[in-house]
This record gives sequence, structure tokens and C-alpha cells, in this order.
Amino acid sequence: MGCFLTNSSVGKKLVMSISGCFLVLFILFHMSMNLTMIFSREGYNMVCEFLGANWYALAATVVLAAGVLVHFVYAFILTIDNYRARGKQRYAVTVQEKGVSWASKNMLVLGIIVVLGLGLHLVHFWSKMQLVEILHSSAAVINVDGVEATAHPANGALLMAFTFSKWYNVVLYLVWFAALWFHLTHGVWSMFQTAGFANDTWYPRLKCAANVVATLIFLGFAIVAVLCFFKSNEFMTEMMSWAPAHH
Ligand code: HEM
Repeated sequence: MGCFLTNSSVGKKLVMSISGCFLVLFILFHMSMNLTMIFSREGYNMVCEFLGANWYALAATVVLAAGVLVHFVYAFILTIDNYRARGKQRYAVTVQEKGVSWASKNMLVLGIIVVLGLGLHLVHFWSKMQLVEILHSSAAVINVDGVEATAHPANGALLMAFTFSKWYNVVLYLVWFAALWFHLTHGVWSMFQTAGFANDTWYPRLKCAANVVATLIFLGFAIVAVLCFFKSNEFMTEMMSWAPAHH
């Protein structure tokens, strides 16, 4: 006997929808956390300290990685299923179908861009923070206008100011956020639809809600990256010699 979640089409979409919902909640949390650095770099670093390599933060990281993996693997399974189901018909479609958004047809490609961006992002931050603590390896040394600064693994604010002091990183991240925006406009709406909320009354409302969520996420992340670019010197000077208070 097969399992509903792995064999039926509705079951697979439900897995996509639930893992996607979980990832959106993480992204909202992550974005809110980043926004605190606008008001206080020290405050932001206190949260980074709290989310270091302790058991609860590591457990959260493992659960999060599992969520990304499930979402990713099921995306491929569903895409292959769709291809099989459509057969040769896809070659006959030449006109733009009404109501089918560009994002909905490019979810896999958009998702792949999001994952590639995530890889770069983890190299920029996670590998210099939580990973340094896990491996007890030496802290990253960064060069601030010829002066070397050691980035303590909880000095997220310094790493942010440093990363976004380089314009090309700001551009790369903005492209990444844009791909995420497209992915979320369709993804969040699709999540509601799978949960069974889409009828004629709710269809436009949910589309609108998905656009609002995606746009807030885009703006929340983008504001921090752009602000760090313009204030990079100020922030780096402020945080260069920061160390946790209790050490
Ligand atoms: C301006 C934009 C962003 C900044 C400044 C930022 C900053 C950070 C920092 C400092 C960490 C390291 C935390 C640590 O290891 O202690 C981190 C981890 C992470 N970020 Fe971001 N982030 C941004 C955008 C994003 C976006 C858009 C996503 C997802 C689509 C994302 C996903 C992650 C993930 C999955 C981790 C690893 C979390 C863990 O270790 O459990 N980030 N980010």
C-alpha cells in the first residue's frame, strides 16, 4: 500500500505547501531579526549570540535544513509528474494562457536561483558564524580599509556591514531577493489554494495577500542590504572591536 503523502498528487502538493509555509515563517522571522540591526547593531548581535551553536539553535538549523530539502526534492518530483501528465501537449501550447502567471510557470527555475543565492549567503554568513562555533575553527578575519578585524562568530552586524560594503554583493542579493519575490507571489498563493481556500470570492483576495507578503519580505531584506551599503564605514567602525559582554 502506498503512502498518501508520497504517491498521490494532492498529497505531494500538501507536502510542498506545508514545507513552503514553514519556510515562509522562517523567512519572516529572519527578516524581522535583520531589521533590528537598523536600530541597534549591538542588539542584533545579542540575538546572534543567542542563536549560536547551542543545542536549540542547532536543532532549529537541522529542522530548517530538512524543510529546505523536502521542499526541494518534492519540487523535482512534482515537476517530473507534470511533464509526464502533459505528454506531448506542451509543444502545442503557443498562446499565453489566461490567468497563468509567469512566476507559476517558472517556479522550479526561480527556486533554483533562490537555492543558489542561499548557497552564497551561507558562505557569507553561516560559515563565518555558526560553523566557526561548531568546528571551533578560527574566526574570520576581514579587511576594513587596510585594517584587519577579527569577526567574532556572533558579530553578525560587522559581517553584514562588510559584505554589503561591496556593491556587487548588494546587486547579487537584490537579484536574489527579486527571484524570491516572484517565487513567493506564486508560492504563497498556491499554498492557500492547496489548503482549499480558493473560490471566486477568495481567489483575488488571496492573490493580493500573497503579493503583499512577498513585497514586505522583499522590502524588509532589501532595506537592510542597501542601508549597510551606504553606512558600511560607520557600521564597521562601530562594530570592529565588538566582543560579547560576558566573556
Ligand atoms: C539582507 C539580507 C540578509 C541578511 C543580512 C542575512 C543575514 C544572515 C546572517 C547574519 C546569518 C547567520 C546566522 C548565524 O549563523 O548565526 C544568516 C543565516 C541564514 N540565512 Fe540569512 N540573511 C539575509 C537574507 C536571507 C534570505 C532572503 C534567506 C532565505 C531565502 C536567508 C536564509 C538564511 C538561512 C537558511 C540561514 C542559516 C540559518 C541557520 O543557521 O539555521 N537569509 N543570515
